[in-house]
Amino acid sequence: MALIALRDLGVATPRPLFQNLTLNIGPGDRLGLVAANGAGKSTLLRCLAGRAEPDAGSVVLSRGTRLGFVEQDLPPGLLGLSLSEALRRALPPAGRAQEEWRVGAVLDEFATPEELRERPLAALSGGWQRLALLARAWIAAPDVLLLDEPTNHLDLEKIALLEGWIAGPASRTPMVVASHDRGFLDACTNRTLFLRPGTSRLYAHPYGAARGLLAEDDAAEERRQLRDAKEIHRLRRNAGELRNIGVNSGSDLLQKKSMQLRDRADRLEATLRPLHAERPGSIRLASRGTHAKVLVAIRDLVVATPEGQPLFRIARLDIRQGDRLVLLGRNGAGKSQFIQLLRRATAEPVAGVQVSPSLILGHAAQGMAHLPEGRTPHEVIAAHAGIGDGRAIALLAGAGIDAEAQRRPIARLSPGQKARLGLLVLRLAAPNFYLLDEPTNHVDIPGQEQLEEELLAQGATCVLVSHDRRFVEAVGTRFLLIEDGRVREKEGG
Ligand SMILES: Nc1ncnc2c1ncn2[C@@H]1O[C@H](COP(=O)(O)OP(=O)(O)OP(=O)(O)O)[C@@H](O)[C@H]1O
Ligand SMILES: [Mg+2]
Repeated sequence: MALIALRDLGVATPRPLFQNLTLNIGPGDRLGLVAANGAGKSTLLRCLAGRAEPDAGSVVLSRGTRLGFVEQDLPPGLLGLSLSEALRRALPPAGRAQEEWRVGAVLDEFATPEELRERPLAALSGGWQRLALLARAWIAAPDVLLLDEPTNHLDLEKIALLEGWIAGPASRTPMVVASHDRGFLDACTNRTLFLRPGTSRLYAHPYGAARGLLAEDDAAEERRQLRDAKEIHRLRRNAGELRNIGVNSGSDLLQKKSMQLRDRADRLEATLRPLHAERPGSIRLASRGTHAKVLVAIRDLVVATPEGQPLFRIARLDIRQGDRLVLLGRNGAGKSQFIQLLRRATAEPVAGVQVSPSLILGHAAQGMAHLPEGRTPHEVIAAHAGIGDGRAIALLAGAGIDAEAQRRPIARLSPGQKARLGLLVLRLAAPNFYLLDEPTNHVDIPGQEQLEEELLAQGATCVLVSHDRRFVEAVGTRFLLIEDGRVREKEGG
């Protein structure tokens, strides 16, 4: 029985995103939604949730179906509410007073520490903010969950918690999940929809297996089209020859036969569709060399909260050229504070941190928060020395930001497009030392793989925070675990 039925669904604004989507979502379905940044995953989820109107087709919910929708970004209106209050307000107004006990029950289900429950969402880590959205959706007892990149900002422990929750309490609730997290998709989905502007493709497998099948299907389609193109050419040539012979010999039969061949060629040609080309744009880095062996030397450094409360102390740490130091630890352990402190040390003296004079910093803040939201990508890139108007357009297009999005304020880019812009700015800085705070958040899978390759190929030196297991395993050379106010280096991720 379908709880949600999509019929010929299509969205063509601001550009063709998807079309002719027909599928059912019913009991047992765990549908992973996979596509490049800006391809329309969030748009599709918003159509399913009734928050956006498709340009074509329909979304039909079976009677009484309640949807729980977890958006990709925290709605600003919630920031001032405490965690408990945010959940309370998600209860249906009619029975709110009687149902209030469920706030505590749901927070227990997500293993929420007592001290966080009355704190405003604005003061919670990104990971807890995301779990708050999930809890808000869950408390209203949805029949189907729509999750837009649920693992973003979650630390490894919380990803495990989320996976356990999906396999446990939420195991009977069908889900549609947009995600770029390969490990999570494999663990939590059983169907995969690759969203495409032409023909989207649906597989009854989790991401990894589906990706293999997609590659085979794309290759088979390419071979079929090549074969058909040859056949069309052959039919047209034969038709031409027959027509000439027919005209010369005055044979109506041959001329008719020639027409038939030409018709066949036309019909075959009409079945050819442009092959889907993944055009997410490429992520490139440019790094500068340095002769310094040790780029940053840390001796007896205390990392503290912005209010000055000590978080942890590092007795001794040398970051050498080629080190890719991964900071591991829970949300709120102080990883971002450490990154901020290192960043400050590259600009001004900081006690306990010795920075090589040859160090050139490339910094990407969490959520690319350092980008000016009110300006357009084009303005930001064109403002770089030596980059004119035309070059800015080409650079942005090459990074996967289409012409229309280039002229839109950064605040109105999709989160993945914003991340790609942040990485392009990084490339233009040509640094020799990278500070990256969750650089792959929101970045699509091809983009993540390119960033991995680039960091490795450039032998980049970096300190990075990431909760993406595959990414960390691929790029990390050293791992620093920050736990309960202590820091220790551990072997492997
Ligand atoms: N606020 C907005 N105003 C105008 N256009 C937008 C806005 N947000 C997104 N778009 C455009 O709509 C298209 C689809 O965006 P959508 O957010 O659905 O993509 P997505 O697949 O979810 O991307 P991501 O992987 O970055 O989350 C993109 O081309 C994007 O540029
Ligand atoms: Mg999105």
